[in-house]
Amino acid sequence: MDNQFVLITNSEEETMRLGERLASILPSGSTLLLTGDLGAGKTTLVRGIARGLNIKEVVQSPTFNIMKIYLKGNRPLIHIDAYRLADFDTDIGLDEYIGYETGITVIEWPEFIQKLLPDDAINVTILRKGDTTREITIDIDEELRRLI
Ligand SMILES: Nc1ncnc2c1ncn2[C@@H]1O[C@H](COP(=O)(O)OP(=O)(O)O)[C@@H](O)[C@H]1O
Ligand SMILES: [Mg+2]
Repeated sequence: MDNQFVLITNSEEETMRLGERLASILPSGSTLLLTGDLGAGKTTLVRGIARGLNIKEVVQSPTFNIMKIYLKGNRPLIHIDAYRLADFDTDIGLDEYIGYETGITVIEWPEFIQKLLPDDAINVTILRKGDTTREITIDIDEELRRLI
């Protein structure tokens, strides 16, 4: 059963730590969909996930790459930023990477690749409440939620 889990972070570091926690509890094959305005903290959360997976490379916003795959951590991290795929109807094979079974897939601006999203993807919404305050809502089942 799906549950909405709402929490507040008060700094970039706190959001990173939430990402780290997510990296440690999410099963491989999980897909996270990050929704929120520019500057909300989506990429920051991905950086935390990368840190949790022991990925040493700097995670940058892939807005200009669309996708980046990190293979040097404990598990693969697939980071997709679909922003530039708005109204782009050509199949570029992204679906091959989404839900990659041995890793974690994180998608910023998932609304632009709606047709490619797996049914069991986990929605995460980040809302800017102030300069350093963010409200983060995660649709996660009870069992995982207790682990965060
Ligand atoms: N609580 C917080 N969580 C995440 N980022 C925060 C927070 N407070 C301030 N920030 C700042 O907000 C910005 C978020 O940027 P970024 O993660 O690139 O957003 P997005 O990927 O959603 O566009 C960064 O400059 C970060 O330092
Ligand atoms: Mg970003």
